[in-house]
Amino acid sequence: MNTSTITQTATNTDTFPINGTDHVEFYVGNAKQTCLFYQHCFGFELIAYKGPETGSRDVVSYVLQQGKIRFVITAAYDPNHEISKHVALHGDGVKVLALWVDDVDDTYHKAIERGAESAFEPIQLWDDHGFVKMAAIKTYGDTIHTLVERSQYNGAFLPGYQPKRSLAPVRSLGFKYVDHCVGNVELGDMNKWVKFYEEVMGFKLLVTFDDKDISTDYTALMSKVVSNGNGYIKFPINEPAAGKKKSQIEEYLDFYKSAGVQHIAIATDDIVHTVESLRNNGIEFLYVPDNYYETVLERVGEIKEDIEDLKRMNILVDRDEEGYLLQIFTKPIQDRPTVFFEIIERHGAKSFGKGNFKALFEAIEREQELRGTL
Ligand code: FE2
Repeated sequence: MNTSTITQTATNTDTFPINGTDHVEFYVGNAKQTCLFYQHCFGFELIAYKGPETGSRDVVSYVLQQGKIRFVITAAYDPNHEISKHVALHGDGVKVLALWVDDVDDTYHKAIERGAESAFEPIQLWDDHGFVKMAAIKTYGDTIHTLVERSQYNGAFLPGYQPKRSLAPVRSLGFKYVDHCVGNVELGDMNKWVKFYEEVMGFKLLVTFDDKDISTDYTALMSKVVSNGNGYIKFPINEPAAGKKKSQIEEYLDFYKSAGVQHIAIATDDIVHTVESLRNNGIEFLYVPDNYYETVLERVGEIKEDIEDLKRMNILVDRDEEGYLLQIFTKPIQDRPTVFFEIIERHGAKSFGKGNFKALFEAIEREQELRGTL
């Protein structure tokens, strides 16, 4: 057994208090169409907008919400705008993992004192609904963490945005909250970024997977998971490990052109319904062969769900000391094989589906083989 789990003891000395994920911002080539994709394929409601009509001359952003999850979809008009350059280099991808804090000045200055690099200094934005304070620090690749303090604000999203509703009815798929966000970093950089989260942001190392845990005949990767004081924010960090062929992490880095966000895991209370709806809306998932289901119950024991439903939807199951979890992974959601989503339903389990790693990576390798990138 090569996994080491570090037991976290509750303390009241959280030196970098974060309430939760504020939003995830994607930089894309065409925000209008991406916004429609998230509404009608993923069941997000449009709640706010900024663009030329609201006084934003260079940048257009749509804000989408489902459960506690807010996605911001942003594009720029001018090819020389930093957003357009980001999209030209990385393709559509995640720029901002924004964190909701009570005191931006305090958290930002603490982070800088502890060695974080600034993305932008604290600013205060006002409109008729109050004010929001924001600042940002850099993390892996071109990704940033914006810190958002919004206790004095009651508008649709942030100052500068106006409320906007979906034009056609949107059916919620039962997404609840962001469970974890995974970063892929270059070979040799995993420990550097784990140290960053520990030293700068007061995160704790939760679990380590080495290449003995996460390898198939062909590919391997290493992963460490860090979590903040209240446990609401979990960031697994992956780096490639030597294998016989190109690992999925190397494929990501080749196509994203730097470190970046690999996947966002979204929690649901009814994964069978959520996945059935996503499939009906045309979303593609990784495929795990039917024989996975022949032995899965021996491995995980009793579960509430009907195994036939899980097999029909190709949903995976794993168990740890505290319970079980159900999970499934989409194929990449843009042309480049970079960002994808995980849908996860937890029944007590706090882990990440280690028992499914082998089946999953073999599924990814089949996709890589088709793309000619294995
Ligand atoms: Fe995950």
